[in-house]
Amino acid sequence: MTTTLITNIGELTTNVATPSDACGTLSDAAVLIDDADIAWIGAAAEAPEAEDVVDAAGRAVIPGFVDSHTHLVFGGDRADEFEARMTGTPYAAGGIRRTVGATRAASDDELRARLATLVAELHAQGTTTFEIKTGYGLTVADEERMARIAAEVTPEVTFLGAHVVPAEYADRREQYVDLVTGEMLRACAPHSRWVDVFCERGAFSLDESRRILEAGIAEGLLARVHGNQLGHGDGVSLAVSVAAASVDHCTYLSDADVAALAGSDTVATLLPGVEFSTRQPYPDARRLIDAGVTVALASDCNPGSSFTSSMPLMIALAVREMGMTPAEAVWAATAGGARALRRDDVGHLSPGARADIVLLAAPTRVHLAYRPGVPLVSRVWRGGIAL
Ligand code: NIG
Ligand code: FE
Repeated sequence: MTTTLITNIGELTTNVATPSDACGTLSDAAVLIDDADIAWIGAAAEAPEAEDVVDAAGRAVIPGFVDSHTHLVFGGDRADEFEARMTGTPYAAGGIRRTVGATRAASDDELRARLATLVAELHAQGTTTFEIKTGYGLTVADEERMARIAAEVTPEVTFLGAHVVPAEYADRREQYVDLVTGEMLRACAPHSRWVDVFCERGAFSLDESRRILEAGIAEGLLARVHGNQLGHGDGVSLAVSVAAASVDHCTYLSDADVAALAGSDTVATLLPGVEFSTRQPYPDARRLIDAGVTVALASDCNPGSSFTSSMPLMIALAVREMGMTPAEAVWAATAGGARALRRDDVGHLSPGARADIVLLAAPTRVHLAYRPGVPLVSRVWRGGIAL
């Protein structure tokens, strides 16, 4: 057992809400880490002794980022597609099939090496909890190995066999849905906590999506949904109707979608890296928050629509482009992500929580949006271990 005291914290974001401050902000504070957890939080002047002491020198401390939506296991990249988009070629979900080809061709060790590089990127940028989806294998064996390799680095693995219908099933899509809801699900469920479906024109219909989520739920998985990304659609209403933990993208929403989310426990997870990289309109976070919807921010790190692992970038985009305040954006990237993953041990700093802590090279969390592109993550602890 080791204890570490982080003291002289100028601004501490705890996310333990008070009536006037959802971020539970403390000044001149200290945090005591005992082994993997937080043991004490309070005024620096009253801090207990510890074996190690870290002097924050007036800088800001926030909870580690919770990135609740990534696709980190894949082969190849699609820089050529990005380049073409920037000269006017629109984003299409069909690009997913190119990554499917590259992922199937990669060995387990090649996938692991790529994954390790990306996980190191996430950690260096302050992400201490992350979810990973399958969905670039789309055969029983390839989906199973994606889920297995993802489970080596996170407990938050999502089975996304229903990402798109693979080319070899193009004219027999019903058989593909049978496969996803049968043999593929049974192979992936032991490595997974979640089931997801891309409910969108060009991917899976409402009926197909419902079948897939219900099969996953019957197999013991919890539901989440990709929806309303490329146009208006059924993703949000489906997610709410199956009590999904989260519906992700939410770029095109009707008033009924917003009302349904507001009356539910389903989080709206916004992924502004996608709009940045596909030149689509950003989702309207202000509209959602004002309606009482819980909003999370995530990176959607994947080689097609958003090849970035940076939660600070998501915060900067959410503030600049989506009407969120800096406090709301930091909350959404930490506590919001934890809600989207139904986790209560991360996303906040309080006694008993996991010691996932980020020390910023800045006096306040506002700097995450105010200084976009600047590496402000100075030190990161995950489960009490300095990364
Ligand atoms: O979340 N929307 C569907 N899936 C990914 C895109 C994956 C890709 O283009 O390879 C997403 O944006
Ligand atoms: Fe995604």
